[in-house]
Amino acid sequence: MKLILLGPPGAGKGTQAKMLTEKFSIPQISTGDILRAAVKAGTTMGLKAKEFMDAGGLVPDEVVVGIVRDRLQEVDCENGFILDGFPRTVAQADALQVSLQKMDKELDHVISLDVDAEALVERLTGRRTCKDCGRGYHISFDPSKVEGVCDVCSSELIQRDDDREDTIRKRLQVYASQTEPLINYYRETGVLIELDGMQQIKLVQEQILARLQAS
Ligand code: AP5
Ligand code: MG
Ligand code: ZN
Repeated sequence: MKLILLGPPGAGKGTQAKMLTEKFSIPQISTGDILRAAVKAGTTMGLKAKEFMDAGGLVPDEVVVGIVRDRLQEVDCENGFILDGFPRTVAQADALQVSLQKMDKELDHVISLDVDAEALVERLTGRRTCKDCGRGYHISFDPSKVEGVCDVCSSELIQRDDDREDTIRKRLQVYASQTEPLINYYRETGVLIELDGMQQIKLVQEQILARLQAS
């Protein structure tokens, strides 16, 4: 199964990707997670990327395209993958097409999650993430059992640097201008599955699985 999860910041891409990873035993490839790991490791690429990320902008296409091209060659992608947060521009989508063609692979589906802007702000300001295992939570919609502590590994839950309201609004603008055009891009190729991401996490999950099984 070769999937893309498409949607604005806070749509639930990471939340749903984690579920799909377990269900289909295929890796989640989140360019955001890979970039944050590079920032944490203090690599040259990470330091450069951090400036764009903290400003709510996009990291240059050539950087992320290179990351994904390399990642898709790894053995765990042989049976499929879930791209979360990539592609985000038409240039990235075109580059992905070229990479897949070279590997003789084809996308199965692009799942697009639609959520209202105000709900996105609420989701992102309330998001917490485990600093060790990366499990995501929401203080109201998906709380951990003990406040501030991960259910899975007992590590501390932290807030992402770019989940401040001003940065969130900038990210939403960037999504509308640079990434939203990809909905039409993939609609035209016939692989798009559009879902209402305003529903509860569990319901969105069930609908994704139903649509994947139906096609
Ligand atoms: P990235 O990490 O990809 O961030 P994003 O796209 O802004 O998306 P988020 O991770 O914020 O949201 P999500 O959809 O994963 O939502 P989640 O499941 O966590 O990218 C960060 C930055 O890196 C970018 O701004 C850019 O600078 C750079 N970058 C990354 N990829 C790039 C690329 N390809 N090109 C260039 N630059 C790139 O859910 C959010 C919250 O809501 C959670 O708390 C969750 O519990 C809750 N929630 C989820 N679903 C529901 C629901 N159905 N109902 C209620 N609450 C819900
Ligand atoms: Mg995410
Ligand atoms: Zn954890």
